[in-house]
Amino acid sequence: MSFYVTTPIFYVNAQPHLGHAYTTIVADTAARFHRLNGEETRFQTGTDEHGDKIAEAAAKAGETPQEYADRISALFRNAWPDLDIAPDNFIRTTDPAHKRIVQAILQQVYEQGDIYFSEYEGLYCKGCERFVTEKELVDGLCPDHQKEPERIREQNYFFRMSKYQQWLIDHIKQHPDCVTPERYRNEVLSFLKEPLEDLCISRPTSRLTWGIPLPFDEKFVTYVWFDALINYISGLGYPNDPLFARYWPAAEHIIAKDILKPHAIYWPTMLRAIGVPMYRKLHVHGYWNVNEAKMSKSLGNVVRPGELAAKYGADAVRYFLLREMSFGVDASFSEEALLGRQNADLANDLGNLFARSLAMLKKFAKGAIPAPAADAESPEDNELREAALAMLDEYSRQMEAFAFNRALQAVWEVVSRANKYIVTSEPWVLAKDPAKAPRLHTMLYHLAETLRCIAVTLQPVMPSAAAKMLQALGLTPPCRLADHRCWQVLPPGSELHDPGPLFPRLDKKAMMAADPPAAEAAGRKGKEKSAGAPTMAQPASSELIDFNLFQKLDLRVAEIIAAEPIPKAKRLLRLTVRAPEERTVVAGIAEHYQPEDLVGRQVILVANLKPAKLMGVVSEGMVLAAKEGSRLTLLRPDTSVAAGTPVS
Ligand code: MSP
Repeated sequence: MSFYVTTPIFYVNAQPHLGHAYTTIVADTAARFHRLNGEETRFQTGTDEHGDKIAEAAAKAGETPQEYADRISALFRNAWPDLDIAPDNFIRTTDPAHKRIVQAILQQVYEQGDIYFSEYEGLYCKGCERFVTEKELVDGLCPDHQKEPERIREQNYFFRMSKYQQWLIDHIKQHPDCVTPERYRNEVLSFLKEPLEDLCISRPTSRLTWGIPLPFDEKFVTYVWFDALINYISGLGYPNDPLFARYWPAAEHIIAKDILKPHAIYWPTMLRAIGVPMYRKLHVHGYWNVNEAKMSKSLGNVVRPGELAAKYGADAVRYFLLREMSFGVDASFSEEALLGRQNADLANDLGNLFARSLAMLKKFAKGAIPAPAADAESPEDNELREAALAMLDEYSRQMEAFAFNRALQAVWEVVSRANKYIVTSEPWVLAKDPAKAPRLHTMLYHLAETLRCIAVTLQPVMPSAAAKMLQALGLTPPCRLADHRCWQVLPPGSELHDPGPLFPRLDKKAMMAADPPAAEAAGRKGKEKSAGAPTMAQPASSELIDFNLFQKLDLRVAEIIAAEPIPKAKRLLRLTVRAPEERTVVAGIAEHYQPEDLVGRQVILVANLKPAKLMGVVSEGMVLAAKEGSRLTLLRPDTSVAAGTPVS
């Protein structure tokens, strides 16, 4: 089975932005997923360099179109590695090989009588680089570009697109999955209810010279869409290269809704005319808006992916975009939302699960995969195993369907289940009784196996973090899915490694005050500088405090990861807690708790208390306890929650 995934080739009249990055991340993720599925996979992206728009932009920049296209195309090519995007081929429509193939196709279609010469008058939108119909306009303007189209009347060559209309309708009806999600398939079918006009495929050189000359009439160049769409097969060396036979028609094109018509109508009819089978699928996604507004240069809110990656790292940006957008529907980008997911999903849930699990494996199993014992299994182990294995199936189903957000949701359900499993299994209690070692090791084994399943699924989404997780478990990535859809993969005795910090918890204020990811990020409220350690306000003289004052308390659930006595201080213990970042807290509980009883336990932390030095140790907060007479008992949440969860 082969899989050939493509992005649109992007116009070089603009620099890469969040929208381009999203489509290309989706393609890269799909390619990585199918590769892990054992399929022969190819991923192509590139740049679309001919046409009016580019010629105009080059003139504005004072460059020749070729110089200009070289410069901007390189910006696209160089943007992708920063996001861990690794295409197999980067095609440019100015590549000589591409031009030759476009000309050969034009010649073939012309000779078979599917291209004719005629006069046409119509409305042309330069932004769309196509003739538009009156019906598509809103208040006389192109809805995508907010510009009035030009009325053009000229003699041109036309492709007999109408001849293939019925075939296309039948094909889409017989292959319901060929345009997805369904709403876009319906949109195409409804468009096809009207008779199709033939497609104007040339521009006279009197008006435009920046294009591929028609092989049968040098006074014309090829219309940019006819040229551009062919990239999908010219990039495979159509018609003779073995790559073409290997990957066509296994093609799955990814686009946004803006270019549905050229991909769902022009391209299939072009393929039909040259006798090439229809592509397998067209995946259509929605638009990213920024802070609820349309992303545009004039609004000054264009988000640059390189700047985002430099600030947050490729893994976090990829995860956020794939998790946040429901494929097919518009979504809104904001840096706050990205930070929210980084701290909650990545640092708190996933990062914390890995860190605490590896710490326990290190401490209670000598840093190696322990051996499970069948007679020491508990129902919770079975539940966790069933959930992890079911997740692998669900994940694969959703990834195949391009429902990345649902696939990740399924993974995170297991992340949170595993976090709860740790708390209910109480390994720190088991560790105190040598007779319970088989149970402890069985529990830790199930935990390690669950981490493995999670890390395997994250490879296509967060390639670098997932590789670190797998290596920490003693595996060598890439790990193919087929080898991991079962239990007991990790061999007992194999050594574990430290993955290093995976997902830091980021300070929202400091991040928002740092350079914005988009140089042009507009509309951002005043950049507050971090106010340093917040101080507690003094209560008013009255016994009652108002809610605002209470809200100033940063109360959080923390997890104790280490506890030790402080020499010469008989009442104090030095605690290392995770909330979710690690910090030291000095607590006056030594007369009430043994240090070893505290490890793994959840407590409530006052996180914004001014640091204070107690017996030479700086305490960064305090833990809450109830005091009954001389007895102290630590507070903890009723059920386990992720470390760092706010208390309100
Ligand atoms: N050159 C043509 C495509 C030819 S393909 C044979 C073109 N180029 S483009 O530079 O305008 O890119 C359009 C594509 O960029 C969209 O289909 C989508 O993949 C991506 N996006 C551009 N803006 C976007 C958003 N705001 N949100 C999501 N994706 C967006 O059209």
